[in-house]
Amino acid sequence: MAWAAAVILFWAWTLPFTEPTDPVICTFSQDCVLPCSFTPTGDENCNMQDSGAYQCYTSTKQGNTNNIVNMEVHAPIQSVNIKKIGNEVKCLSQDIYPRPNVSWTTEPSTQSDTLKDKNPIRENNSSELYSVESKVRMLGNVSDYTYICSVTSADGKQKWTTSLRHQELHGGNMLIPCLAPGAFKPHNFTLKWTIARENNSEVILTFDSVTRQILNHWKDQARVDPDQVLKGNGSLWFHNLENSAEAGTYICEFSAFRNQHLVYTDITLAPQPHRDNQGF
Ligand SMILES: *[C@@H]1O[C@H](CO)[C@@H](O)[C@H](O)[C@H]1NC(C)=O
Ligand SMILES: *[C@@H]1O[C@H](CO)[C@@H](O)[C@H](O)[C@H]1NC(C)=O
Ligand SMILES: *[C@@H]1O[C@H](CO)[C@@H](O)[C@H](O)[C@H]1NC(C)=O
Ligand SMILES: *[C@@H]1O[C@H](CO)[C@@H](O)[C@H](O)[C@H]1NC(C)=O
Ligand SMILES: *[C@@H]1O[C@H](CO)[C@@H](O)[C@H](O)[C@H]1NC(C)=O
Ligand SMILES: *[C@@H]1O[C@H](CO)[C@@H](O)[C@H](O)[C@H]1NC(C)=O
Ligand SMILES: *[C@@H]1O[C@H](CO)[C@@H](O)[C@H](O)[C@H]1NC(C)=O
Repeated sequence: MAWAAAVILFWAWTLPFTEPTDPVICTFSQDCVLPCSFTPTGDENCNMQDSGAYQCYTSTKQGNTNNIVNMEVHAPIQSVNIKKIGNEVKCLSQDIYPRPNVSWTTEPSTQSDTLKDKNPIRENNSSELYSVESKVRMLGNVSDYTYICSVTSADGKQKWTTSLRHQELHGGNMLIPCLAPGAFKPHNFTLKWTIARENNSEVILTFDSVTRQILNHWKDQARVDPDQVLKGNGSLWFHNLENSAEAGTYICEFSAFRNQHLVYTDITLAPQPHRDNQGF
């Protein structure tokens, strides 16, 4: 491609041409149409190797013109995932160009140098794309902090944020807390509660902030307070002690545009107090 670009530029000097303008940005693996005043070069699916200078040669009765079009192929961030592996939290995002930035914060906040990852961005040698594979060690006890990972595009225009909190509770709970981080302030989001048991998982309820509609599959057992959810408090309530949280992992998920917050709550059963001991 470098060779081809050099030849095109050489030819460009031999004919009248207009100054190269701002580069045309194409999206990786999508159609790309170069602006050409008369004869389009056609469209094609972009590859990273397609970046470079293109000549657009037009021949009409009025004469010959040459346009040089600089094309850059970008691969935007498409998703950011976060998970706990052992005592580390890992933030993952794949196939990005140009090189993105990744940063970590916690709630409550900590000194940023305790969250440093020396090599968070990997270059994919076969495709020239970058991947984020950043991990930080968990601080203190598992439920002490919310871990927030942000991946930002090179031009700073796209920022994706995803966060994770793990907590452990014992049985007999009337309330499973789930608070979105302070930075989570979208108007348009969904809240979803799921329970993951040993061999299956089940959606408990979903809430839509725009319509304020709740789809509750556990009607008489659990609920959320819509006014609280709109403030970022998605805590799940159980109506009575008989129906209090069963054992399993409860997953609370706030999702918005480029923004996601996950809370995993492991509930283990505590020995039930015997009825005879309750003093009736
Ligand atoms: C890409 O190449 C570099 C240098 O050869 C190497 O260190 C790195 O591990 C390679 N990356 C991948 C994803 O294979
Ligand atoms: C590198 O890119 C190729 C082609 O897009 C892809 O199949 C592969 O999974 C990528 N490797 C890594 C480590 O991301
Ligand atoms: C972690 O939790 C255990 C018991 O749950 C407690 O004994 C210990 O002090 C806690 N450690 C920290 C660093 O908070
Ligand atoms: C990415 O990080 C580098 C080094 O920390 C910084 O110099 C640069 O300004 C950052 N770019 C964006 C778009 O945030
Ligand atoms: C889950 O697995 C246990 C044993 O592993 C079994 O007794 C139980 O019926 C299973 N539950 C469901 C819903 O499949
Ligand atoms: C969250 O909402 C619940 C009611 O759904 C309430 O009891 C609890 O105090 C709230 N927590 C905070 C931190 O506001
Ligand atoms: C809310 O966000 C969803 C997904 O990002 C989008 O499809 C929908 O159009 C948005 N609704 C409003 C009212 O902005």
